[in-house]
Amino acid sequence: MARIFSGIQPTGIATLGNYLGALRNWVALQESEDECIFCLVDLHAITNFQEAAALREQTRQMAALLLACGIDPARSILFHQSAVSAHARLAWIFNCVARMGWLKRMTQFKDKAGRDQEAASTGLFVYPNLMAADIHAYHATKVPVGDDQLQHLELANDIAEKFNHDFGVAFFPRIEPLVLKDSARVMSLRDGTKKMSKSDPSDQSRINMTDTADMIDQKIRKAKTDPAPLPEHVHDLASRPEARNLVGIFATITGQTPHQVLHHFAGAGFGPFKTQLAEALIAHIEPISLRTRQYLDDPTALDQILKDGAHRAAAIAEPIVTEAERLVGFLSR
Ligand code: AMP
Ligand code: TRP
Repeated sequence: MARIFSGIQPTGIATLGNYLGALRNWVALQESEDECIFCLVDLHAITNFQEAAALREQTRQMAALLLACGIDPARSILFHQSAVSAHARLAWIFNCVARMGWLKRMTQFKDKAGRDQEAASTGLFVYPNLMAADIHAYHATKVPVGDDQLQHLELANDIAEKFNHDFGVAFFPRIEPLVLKDSARVMSLRDGTKKMSKSDPSDQSRINMTDTADMIDQKIRKAKTDPAPLPEHVHDLASRPEARNLVGIFATITGQTPHQVLHHFAGAGFGPFKTQLAEALIAHIEPISLRTRQYLDDPTALDQILKDGAHRAAAIAEPIVTEAERLVGFLSR
């Protein structure tokens, strides 16, 4: 049995992209033999400033959504990162293992820091060290992520290797990314070349997992397309990013291949296609958003689920991180 670890930042409302690209796969992984640990990474969230009340609310919101999507706290461990101090302790050790040069190469830092790197928090710079600590604190070996996170996983392996080498041990195992398929990449409804993102300034660019049926209907109707009818072949979508995205969403949400979708709609305009796409999305998302609201209606019960999860997570991470501290030369506590 292997151990699976993944994390999501509790910032903003999860989008259809988060759902199809990550959360849905997490739910499916629960069916495997492996032990699943899912973490709301609030320590990562504050690498960019968050209003305290908003962070609290969004952490509960993301927990409620994960449960509504089918994460089962009886089978998986679901918790918030700050509740298990092992993450921060191992991250500090990794801050001292990782090299400046390694972190300077991280493309996500460059993207997120933007033009004014001097103004970025130092937490944002060492973000990948904390992510490595998240995984290695559990000796997890399988990590489901989108392809944008692969560079961070390579770094996590480099850190483990250097730690093992520096202290002459074989303590941290290699981790293996479980990369989500290309078809699961959902693009913006306004620009088919940009990823659908919860941080996009335009709400019209995304479907939120909390959108009402009316909002979903309206956003799909207004989604950018081109004037040509839907083509017969998938390869004809190559130069039509918006059409390709909508066909991809339709296929994923209805469990078909893009080929099957085109077979049905080839030659037609986007009108009837969009109507059916909106219907399929509403049928899928509405029950999830209803269950999310039910979980949010009882914050005491929700917090208790996270506390139980944190307790079980700590039981695994505590001995591993304590051993790492001993290997480094810290006296026992
Ligand atoms: P983020 O919203 O960037 O914090 O990402 C959280 C998780 O959702 C990561 O595993 C991402 O790879 C995945 N994800 C985010 N946006 C998309 C998208 N538009 N399509 C597919 N996966 C996504
Ligand atoms: N950096 C990841 C993201 O933005 C979130 C994350 C934090 C994570 N710690 C992790 C993912 C550990 C996998 C494993 O999507």
